[in-house]
Amino acid sequence: MKKKDAGGGGGGGGGGAFVAAPCVDIKLFVASLAFLTLFVALWQLQPYGSLLAAARSSASAPPCALPLANNTKVHSANSTSSDAATKTAPVATSAPAIPAAAAAPKRPVPRPSGSAAVRPEDPNKRVLRPYGSAAALFVQMGAYRGGPRTFAIVGLASKPTHVFGTPYFKCEWQPNPSAADPAPRAVRTKAYKILPDWGYGRVYTTVVVNCTFPSNPNAANAGGRLLVHAYHSTASRRYERFVALEEAPGAYDEAAFSPPFQYDYLYCGSSLYGNLSADRMREWVAYHAHFFGPRSHFVFHDAGGVSPEVRAVLEPWIRAGRVTVQDVRAQAEFDSYYYNQFLVVNDCLHRYRHAANWTFFFDVDEYLYLPNGQALDQVLGRLSGYTQFTIEQNPMSTKLCVKNPRNDYSREWGFEKFVFRNSITRVRRDRKYAIQARNAYATGVHMSQNIYGRSTHKTEALIRYYHYHNSINVLGEPCQEFVPRPGSGRKVTFEGVPYVYDDAMKRLAGEVRRFENETIGSSSLT
Ligand SMILES: *[C@@H]1O[C@H](CO)[C@@H](O)[C@H](O)[C@H]1NC(C)=O
Ligand SMILES: *[C@@H]1O[C@H](CO)[C@@H](O)[C@H](O)[C@H]1NC(C)=O
Ligand SMILES: *[C@@H]1O[C@H](CO)[C@@H](O)[C@H](O)[C@H]1NC(C)=O
Ligand SMILES: *[C@@H]1O[C@H](CO)[C@@H](O)[C@H](O)[C@H]1NC(C)=O
Ligand SMILES: *[C@@H]1O[C@H](CO)[C@@H](O)[C@H](O)[C@H]1NC(C)=O
Ligand SMILES: *[C@@H]1O[C@H](CO)[C@@H](O)[C@H](O)[C@H]1NC(C)=O
Repeated sequence: MKKKDAGGGGGGGGGGAFVAAPCVDIKLFVASLAFLTLFVALWQLQPYGSLLAAARSSASAPPCALPLANNTKVHSANSTSSDAATKTAPVATSAPAIPAAAAAPKRPVPRPSGSAAVRPEDPNKRVLRPYGSAAALFVQMGAYRGGPRTFAIVGLASKPTHVFGTPYFKCEWQPNPSAADPAPRAVRTKAYKILPDWGYGRVYTTVVVNCTFPSNPNAANAGGRLLVHAYHSTASRRYERFVALEEAPGAYDEAAFSPPFQYDYLYCGSSLYGNLSADRMREWVAYHAHFFGPRSHFVFHDAGGVSPEVRAVLEPWIRAGRVTVQDVRAQAEFDSYYYNQFLVVNDCLHRYRHAANWTFFFDVDEYLYLPNGQALDQVLGRLSGYTQFTIEQNPMSTKLCVKNPRNDYSREWGFEKFVFRNSITRVRRDRKYAIQARNAYATGVHMSQNIYGRSTHKTEALIRYYHYHNSINVLGEPCQEFVPRPGSGRKVTFEGVPYVYDDAMKRLAGEVRRFENETIGSSSLT
């Protein structure tokens, strides 16, 4: 599937919310810097000039650093022209005192007193003028309290800026005034950032900003706001400031951050996109609602894959309180790895960090399975000393099916008719995983590398998953090749791969069907 190219997508990235405040800040700041060196002035004032232009000519308030071509074009003529005034025009027009008149390059450039390293008259001194901004400094998706004194802000940011530049963040808590403290003081703290996407990002990369205060900044529970200062680089003092999160008076609840949690198990799905088979989705939800039991919840992320048909099979589960579907179609504006799945899983991690004992990350063509007959809570009891465990897969064919004239295979469920397991072992295959989310700071698609505590990968005897690769994208009948059921231990070679017969999942199908009927009623899709 081709990733929709968002064409840079960036300029508008900020959204309305965090435009106003930063502009004012930068304005004040820049004004105070106007007498520093020319070099600094070039850096600082040029975007400011654009700001004025933008404010003048656009009611729809583009983000601060987004110059409008028509206004800046005044200065865009022949860059080789040796007219000093022309070259310094952007600086001149952006001096704070100058009003709207765009061109007027008459003002002398603020000249540094001592070190005149740059001489505007120098005909060989070239000027580089930026127009537009290609990718936002930060695009917030979610901000969450992660405990009494810690917060996570999950978003996207320009990948080259983070890979080659030195952007950084600071956090500030502004408490609400209260009777006890009518003029409370803001508290500031350093933030650290995690880039959890293993370098897979494209124009944008996923960023998790961690703000941890020395103590609960809202201990009095009067409410307040968490502000983030996003700095462009360590070399400049430019920054954007935005309100990441607000806590209403009385809203802070200490008990939310320790067990017992609302659920035992939470499922965080990654972006759903493309044409998804409603039948396979129905089977997946029924199977896992049964597998995880009543104290579990499923969070899906719709990046365009939830068609009306898929929505219809999810609807009864949504009504039953078992499923939440988040609409993340807005992610298409921001080009990153596969429908921004790293963004989505990190948002889910932090949004539900204290919602469940265990949070599972795997896909909708994958089915968890307990091979040794233990119950799920027993298995997880044995893994409770770990923050994270990964899960090995049983790769299955989704084309090869058993020829049996008595069976109407088209009425069988996917995991009922996909009974051929790839028998090649000792090759490295992708794994999926579960974590105790309260001990994780960020997460990935196949595992988390930012956790507190231990991980284990020796789980194949306890829990595995059946992988029906891509079956979720086949809208018609998936079975293509039919062979007689092989005797035990016999292999069938199909497309060069030896398969063995494995009906462990098939044997669960009757029970799952009954469960579905009992829980949400018999479905018209049967
Ligand atoms: C820029 O100028 C061109 C032609 O002069 C005009 O068509 C266009 O609408 C202008 N754009 C803006 C954003 O003002
Ligand atoms: C560039 O300079 C030349 C000669 O001075 C002039 O003819 C031309 O119109 C200029 N181009 C622009 C875009 O102003
Ligand atoms: C979904 O299916 C339709 C028709 O079957 C096709 O035109 C469309 O390209 C498919 N979309 C994707 C994302 O595969
Ligand atoms: C979840 O955690 C609570 C508190 O630690 C524990 O009592 C409960 O047994 C756990 N549930 C499962 C299913 O592990
Ligand atoms: C932020 O980092 C600190 C220290 O690593 C950690 O204790 C805290 O849980 C993290 N917070 C979140 C919300 O991830
Ligand atoms: C669903 O259950 C009802 C009784 O609760 C039963 O009458 C019906 O036949 C069942 N439907 C299916 C498809 O099993």
